[in-house]
Amino acid sequence: MLETRHLSIRFGGHVAVNRVSCVFTPGTLTAIVGPNGAGKTTYFNLISGQLPASEGQVLLDGMDITRLGAPQRTRRGLGRAFQLTQLFAQLSVQENVRLAVQARHGGGLNCWRVWLDRQDWLEETREILAETQLWPQRDALAASLPHGDQRKLEVAMLMALDPRVYLFDEPTAGMSADDAPVVLDLIRRLKTRRDRTILLVEHKMDVLRELADRIVVLHQGALVADGEPASVMASPLVQQAYLGVAPVQEAA
Ligand SMILES: Nc1ncnc2c1ncn2[C@@H]1O[C@H](COP(=O)(O)OP(=O)(O)OP(=O)(O)O)[C@@H](O)[C@H]1O
Ligand SMILES: [Mg+2]
Repeated sequence: MLETRHLSIRFGGHVAVNRVSCVFTPGTLTAIVGPNGAGKTTYFNLISGQLPASEGQVLLDGMDITRLGAPQRTRRGLGRAFQLTQLFAQLSVQENVRLAVQARHGGGLNCWRVWLDRQDWLEETREILAETQLWPQRDALAASLPHGDQRKLEVAMLMALDPRVYLFDEPTAGMSADDAPVVLDLIRRLKTRRDRTILLVEHKMDVLRELADRIVVLHQGALVADGEPASVMASPLVQQAYLGVAPVQEAA
């Protein structure tokens, strides 16, 4: 279980995330929505440890991880889609995924066991490449991939790490109509594993309707709505703040 308590960050005088308290349970996909600049990415950065909180706490399974760095949080099961800059640009697609698989299994001291596992690692790498439809590109250098494939590789690396908590920040942004369904299908399948906690920042309504079990709305850094998708989407606050629909005018 992931929890944030009064989590905040200030940049100078600007409060980008403002006392956000929320609990995310395994087996649930929570969509985080809100207008541009609402603080969604910053909230993810605070959870994953890319940014230090000014105030408040992040708890993972009841343990306070607020002061831990990003790598330590990753080791405890918090997974953030890799940014392109974290990929090994000069390694192949397959090598990148294999390194992530290897990182998850950790290097044991028992060489025999490591050798045996390596067969599994390769098999696992192949499966992930097939699932993300990157198998045909497996020998291409990460740096040489077109944008859509690079983003798929980011997701493939995350699947390889197989964290307990998945953080997806607009995973299909900028993807072609061919690539986006591949990624959405992976998220859909992750959902069927009831032991994973998934947070998804997503703008597309149809995706939210289909995938979200719950919607949390951020507005100017604060949590302003939280609940079932249908009721959250219907609330006047969300219609105005998120969908940009003007409040109904009084008849003159
Ligand atoms: N490192 C930083 N330094 C200063 N201000 C920042 C920093 N990171 C984010 N901000 C500010 O915090 C606010 C929230 O930004 P954030 O990127 O979290 O919004 P978002 O909800 O993800 O928006 P979008 O939908 O456009 O991705 C913005 O006003 C942004 O300018
Ligand atoms: Mg963002």
